[in-house]
Amino acid sequence: MSAHAAPRARVTPASLAQKKDAREPIVMVTAYDHPGAQIVEAAGVDIVLVGDSAAMTVLGYDSTVPVTVDEMLMLTRAVRRGLTRPLLVGDLPFGSYEASDELAIETAQRFIKEAGCDLVKIERGGTSVDRARALVAAGIPVVGHVGLTPQTAAASGGFRARGRTADAARTVIDDALALQDAGCSLLVVEAVPSEVTQALVPLLDIPVIGIGAGPAADGQVLVFHDLLGLYDGGAAKFVKRYADLRADAVAGVAAYAEEVRSGVYPAPEHEYSMPAAEAAELRGMVSG
Ligand code: KIV
Repeated sequence: MSAHAAPRARVTPASLAQKKDAREPIVMVTAYDHPGAQIVEAAGVDIVLVGDSAAMTVLGYDSTVPVTVDEMLMLTRAVRRGLTRPLLVGDLPFGSYEASDELAIETAQRFIKEAGCDLVKIERGGTSVDRARALVAAGIPVVGHVGLTPQTAAASGGFRARGRTADAARTVIDDALALQDAGCSLLVVEAVPSEVTQALVPLLDIPVIGIGAGPAADGQVLVFHDLLGLYDGGAAKFVKRYADLRADAVAGVAAYAEEVRSGVYPAPEHEYSMPAAEAAELRGMVSG
């Protein structure tokens, strides 16, 4: 930004609605720590999600299921400290909201009060529609998540696209409409055929953010580690890599290791020094 450029305005739910109306794509990305937050802020994204994908990308679990509220809160607070302009969405982890409206409100309030989230995200239709309604009634803005919902994917057909038949697509659309009716401010749609998103978007007033849902969505979200190539392992079909930071990082650490082993590092410019007289006195002190 030049010295005279006006600072960009903070993103608000109202500014997202304006973007939807103007058909201006909304950019959402995940982040999980303070440097990540500073990077996505500097890149000018609109919405930052501290996704429970953190379970796999930064905590090393096999799925999103084991991550706890306390683990998510620690990561979310770190992201909050690195953001000023984008909206911050906290992801309520598996087991922290499903059982009752009271549990959902108690957990969501922690994300708002302790981690400074603007909204919280919950997965699925069904009972999550009731939880969304209760959260909104308690004054907590909610993001819904339909299509492939990773928290319950293992119990509902695995990690594959959803809505590939007309009946299955109808279920995705019905869940989305119910979540909007419950008061959700935003909807994430994951891993559905583009035709489903094309059918869904005109039916909803709230912005629809796609991940593996084709170009018809009002915006797109990708996982930070996937788009930057920081993740060791296969990525879903919808992921596009915009950088290969893991390879760069391995090369950087390997070069450091090589220079330590060969004595190239540290070089004179990395050393502290002391006055010659002090050095001579020190040598006198320690010599036998
Ligand atoms: O946890 C996550 O990162 C998500 C996005 C993939 C939408 O839910």
